[in-house]
Amino acid sequence: MSLLVLPVVLCLLCTVPRPVSADLGTATSYGPPYIPTRCFGRRTDQFPPQYFFVAVSEGLWDGGSACERVYKIKCLSGLNMPCKVGETVEVMVVDLCRKSPCPSTIAMSTDAFAAISHNSSAPINIEYLQ
Ligand SMILES: *[C@@H]1O[C@H](CO)[C@@H](O)[C@H](O)[C@H]1NC(C)=O
Repeated sequence: MSLLVLPVVLCLLCTVPRPVSADLGTATSYGPPYIPTRCFGRRTDQFPPQYFFVAVSEGLWDGGSACERVYKIKCLSGLNMPCKVGETVEVMVVDLCRKSPCPSTIAMSTDAFAAISHNSSAPINIEYLQ
C-alpha cells in the first residue's frame, strides 16, 4: 500500500505553481477581408480596438475553444532583423488560420503584426503566452 501512496505524495509537488513560461512559434501577417471569422461570423463588433487579433493554426485552435483567448506576443527574430525592439502586442483569437496548412503558428492581423515587426512579408519567430 505504501508503495502505491508514495507516488501520489510525490506528485503533490507536481501541483506547486511554477513560473509561467512562454511558448515558441512563428508568426505571419494576413490581411482583409477579415470577415467572416470562424469565431464570430459576420459580427461587425468582433474586433478589438486597434484591430489586434489573430487566426491560429490547427494546433492552437482547440476545436474552437481558442476563440477569444488572448495572447501576448513578442517578436524574437526574422530575416534582416524585422523585430521592433522591446515591443509586445496583446491579441485576441478570432479565427482559424485560413490557409491549410497554416504558414505559421499564429497568423496575425496586419495591424497586430505591424506592432512588433517592420516587415509584413517576412515570417518571424515569436514567443507567445496566453
Ligand atoms: C521583407 O521580407 C521579404 C520576404 O522575406 C524580403 O524579401 C524583403 O527583402 C524584406 N524587406 C526588408 C526591408 O527587409
